[in-house]
Amino acid sequence: MITTILISFMQFSIVAPHSLHRHCIATQGTLYPKNIQLVMIDDVIVYYYNSSAEQEAVVPEWLNHPEGIEFWQEVHRNLKFNRYVMDTAVRVTSEHYNHSHDHFYQAHGRCGWKSDGTTEAFMSHAYDGKDFVSFDVSTRTWTAAVSHAVFYKRKRETDLEDLVRLVIHYESGCIRWLEKLLEFSVTVREPKVPAVSLFERPPHGNSKVEVTCHVTGFYPRAVQVDWLGAEGLPMVDGVNSGEVLPNGDGSYQLRKSLTVPQEAQDTQSYSCLVLHSSIAGNITVTWAPKKNLANVLMAIVIIVSVVLMLTVLFKYLVWRRAVGKSQS
Ligand SMILES: *[C@@H]1O[C@H](CO)[C@@H](O)[C@H](O)[C@H]1NC(C)=O
Ligand SMILES: *[C@@H]1O[C@H](CO)[C@@H](O)[C@H](O)[C@H]1NC(C)=O
Ligand SMILES: *[C@@H]1O[C@H](CO)[C@@H](O)[C@H](O)[C@H]1NC(C)=O
Repeated sequence: MITTILISFMQFSIVAPHSLHRHCIATQGTLYPKNIQLVMIDDVIVYYYNSSAEQEAVVPEWLNHPEGIEFWQEVHRNLKFNRYVMDTAVRVTSEHYNHSHDHFYQAHGRCGWKSDGTTEAFMSHAYDGKDFVSFDVSTRTWTAAVSHAVFYKRKRETDLEDLVRLVIHYESGCIRWLEKLLEFSVTVREPKVPAVSLFERPPHGNSKVEVTCHVTGFYPRAVQVDWLGAEGLPMVDGVNSGEVLPNGDGSYQLRKSLTVPQEAQDTQSYSCLVLHSSIAGNITVTWAPKKNLANVLMAIVIIVSVVLMLTVLFKYLVWRRAVGKSQS
């Protein structure tokens, strides 16, 4: 379950203006790590901690310089303290529910700029995947999403030191982190042009030809991929889209398959059209139907038969002439 949650973290489709996300999970009694922490700016992972791994979070290459390291240590101190807050949250909540094992507590904090340039921040928590409490930074109030969360809301709002810490972070610290990270990660966030290729799965038995358009290596994450059919119109029927997946090197990939309709298999060509912010125009790769192998074989058989027949006929005529001559 946690793996799925982590994957979904990485698939946030965030449009500019930028935002910073913190995701933390604390578990109890599961086979998963006791603690997982993730900090992202837009779709770039900055900080990843997993308590099952031997080591602390690793400084990304692009932060590995004196100013970056100094900044990293500030982030690290904050997140290390946060593990304690998260461990407490999963413990007191499961105690409250009289739960014994296999539970997890998640927190998601975000700060960023709205399109009008003002800043916004929020934080929400979930217990076992369901909304639990949230914190409204502007009014500095906690809200319980379910009645069983009231005890936790009270616990947090009566702790004034905790309240001040949260408000300072979400009103200014988080935005300062975001500004710094945007500045440091310029090269990481450079646009990368997608590579587009097609591969075809030949029909097995009655199945139809399936052509897949594989778009990979692009950044940022947002991309548009369409299959165009007759007259360049986008296809809807027979199109099957995968999800945008991280390649692990800061770039993304997407696959979109087209099942070629039987009746169009030998005549219609189809194009995979890719639009991405790293390129001014588009990338178009066209699939044209290969002549059906059976048709090709049939043609060869017909040609060979005709040649054979003509040869036989020719020899026959020559023989008849020879016979005729010898009789005259
Ligand atoms: C956490 O780290 C351990 C040890 O490196 C690894 O086996 C495990 O897959 C990691 N789990 C997650 C959710 O990252
Ligand atoms: C947990 O157990 C206590 C004592 O038996 C009980 O008062 C309380 O209502 C239980 N909590 C839940 C959420 O069921
Ligand atoms: C894709 O690019 C080609 C060549 O530049 C252009 O003719 C075509 O109109 C473009 N298609 C779309 C849908 O933008």
